[in-house]
Amino acid sequence: MSEVYRDPSLSASERTIDLLSRMTIEEKVGQMCQLDLSHDPKIWIKERNIGSYLNVKWKDTQVLQKMALETRLGIPLIFGVDAVHGHCFHDGATVFPSQLAMSCSWNPELLEEVARITAREVIHTGFHWTFAPILCIGRDPRWGRISETFGEDPFLIGNLASAMVRGYQGKSLSDPESILACPKHFVAYGETIGGRDSAEAEVSRRKLRSIFLPPFKAVVDTGCDSIMAGYHSIDGTPCSANSWLLKDLLKKEWGFKGFVLTDWANINWLHEMQYIAPTLADAAEIALLAGNDMMMSTPEFYNIIIKMIKEGHIDEKVIDDACSRILNVKFRLGLFEQKGLLTSDSKVIGCLKHKKKALEAALQSLVLLKNDNDLLPLKENIGKIAVLGPNADNSIAQLGDWSFGKVLNWPPQDSDIVDGHKDNTVTILDGIKKRVKDPSSILYVKGCDVLNPEDQDIQKAVQAAMEANVAIVVVGDSYSLNGERKDRASLDLTGAQHKLLDSIKRTETPLIVVLINGKPLTIPWIAENADAILEAWNPGNEGGNAVAAVLFGDFNPSGKLTISFPRHIGQLPVYYNQMPGWHGGKYVDMDAEPLFPFGYGLSYTSFQYSNLRCSTTELQKHEVLTVSIDIKNTGNHEGTEIVQLYVNDKYSSVTTPIKELKGFSSVNLHPGEEKCVNLVLPISSLSLINSEGVECVEPGEFEILVGGSSRDNDLLKKSIFVH
Ligand code: GLC
Repeated sequence: MSEVYRDPSLSASERTIDLLSRMTIEEKVGQMCQLDLSHDPKIWIKERNIGSYLNVKWKDTQVLQKMALETRLGIPLIFGVDAVHGHCFHDGATVFPSQLAMSCSWNPELLEEVARITAREVIHTGFHWTFAPILCIGRDPRWGRISETFGEDPFLIGNLASAMVRGYQGKSLSDPESILACPKHFVAYGETIGGRDSAEAEVSRRKLRSIFLPPFKAVVDTGCDSIMAGYHSIDGTPCSANSWLLKDLLKKEWGFKGFVLTDWANINWLHEMQYIAPTLADAAEIALLAGNDMMMSTPEFYNIIIKMIKEGHIDEKVIDDACSRILNVKFRLGLFEQKGLLTSDSKVIGCLKHKKKALEAALQSLVLLKNDNDLLPLKENIGKIAVLGPNADNSIAQLGDWSFGKVLNWPPQDSDIVDGHKDNTVTILDGIKKRVKDPSSILYVKGCDVLNPEDQDIQKAVQAAMEANVAIVVVGDSYSLNGERKDRASLDLTGAQHKLLDSIKRTETPLIVVLINGKPLTIPWIAENADAILEAWNPGNEGGNAVAAVLFGDFNPSGKLTISFPRHIGQLPVYYNQMPGWHGGKYVDMDAEPLFPFGYGLSYTSFQYSNLRCSTTELQKHEVLTVSIDIKNTGNHEGTEIVQLYVNDKYSSVTTPIKELKGFSSVNLHPGEEKCVNLVLPISSLSLINSEGVECVEPGEFEILVGGSSRDNDLLKKSIFVH
């Protein structure tokens, strides 16, 4: 009689109970370990029954899984991978724009499709689990990992992250092309002091509930089944040591039934970097008891915990709960029915259909920041074009963080990257050359390096600009200026980029700046002196085609910033949803306004907002308000506008932001066309966390603000009253 747990007709919980009852302590603790392939599978699979390997290669997944299925109980491995904006660690896979780039589309449906395609490419290479989406709130651009975020607003992050979880996990985890999502890094990882990676976040529990937890609650309600804890500490307690966060709140209050994964060697850092555990054994015990269920890259955990259980120091029930959570997900994913095995459908990886979606995502990610005298779109007969700058033909800078599975050192510099996507990446230069009728009309000069101020060829670039009718200068930052452990004290352009730009400006050739960058940069000179500016972020391997399509008007840009650009580093924080109370409201030596605000983005056409109205102005807390506004395309191009709805709680028992995003909707209009846009606002969404830590909607006046950016002069305003 085959064992109950092998019967796919039974429920995951029935199968889990049966399997757990058959397991030894060693096998249970083995399931709670996740390692990379620097740890011998002959030991870790055959002898220790490890639960997961991460970031291996496709061929490894097939070999390792067969090894696991031959063990005593045949418990399959779950393979995890950082497929953050496509299955980028797999050479030839579709590389989508970064999360920050895609967030500027404000398009949840698009991001769900991107996640679905990523899941398809992941499962067809034998993996089952992506360590994504990232829900960190990007409020300090000095932090190295801003490009991984969906920007600075918790409401938008919750929307976009939930869409990607739906895309990754599909309607059911057992669907053949569904993979497990892993929202991360739980919680407030982007809020560490000074933008310093994995340092301390000075955030109260009330502020966590007000700002940082809501996006995670959204994905837990959507139905994610794993969550990764952050490296950092919050108010003195590292996330992986925080039982209030992982057990009381996540598992008990929210009813999370999935499992919690530590981040890389988080247990070791408790001892080696945060000094809350005098020994590694203490750290392992603290992490286990705090509610972590699977431990990434701490092999010592295995022997330490087995010893503690056998000595009666730790109750076996603790590992039963953790192991059950892991097994339950493995059953629901379909791993015991060999999901992810023998899938060698390489036609899926990087296929034309996926590339088309990558182009669509890149197009919607681009943000037009300036366009003086309608310089853009370029005329077909523009003649000679100088394409200049260090990021014009640079696939590594263009693809950005989490795009390369093979790096020679950690944290990797540009020179450490093995670029497995080069042949599939359309650089900005490639895209422009493909788009123009006569490629010989393109004069390309790199001009300078992003980092090395000495490495420059500016005179040749000036010469090209003087011969051309327009100069497109592609600048920004580089792979080595973004990512884990790569925080910046300055956001100024590096290397000789400013010297290049200034030299090109002096030629008086019309100057278009295209930005290829992982985060907002302090670019007041560009804002002042460029005739046009297109923010392209890290636009993925179709980025060159997307930029060319916008520059020549094949696509009318519709992206809106999801993160504010500071004018100067000293202005930080400049995120739009500031708390009130600043006496003077500005620095003596600088305005408080950001260079470019949250929600801002231009179009080749213009939109007029009018006739803001509310379905009623008096409401009870359980009611729903409908906000309506008329929008007219007053220009000459068809275009899409992202309408934004903000709310200001006029008077409240605790300080609340001067405005908060509570809704958005895209509308496409032909020239002269006018439409009414309706936005639904549940009054329950106007809640706050009061000084007792209780969530409530307080009666009183709320300002409803609707428009095309978060800037006051872009918003129409009405008041409603809640009783
Ligand atoms: C890294 C990152 C995390 C990633 C993990 C596995 O250190 O913090 O986001 O998923 O390790 O690569």
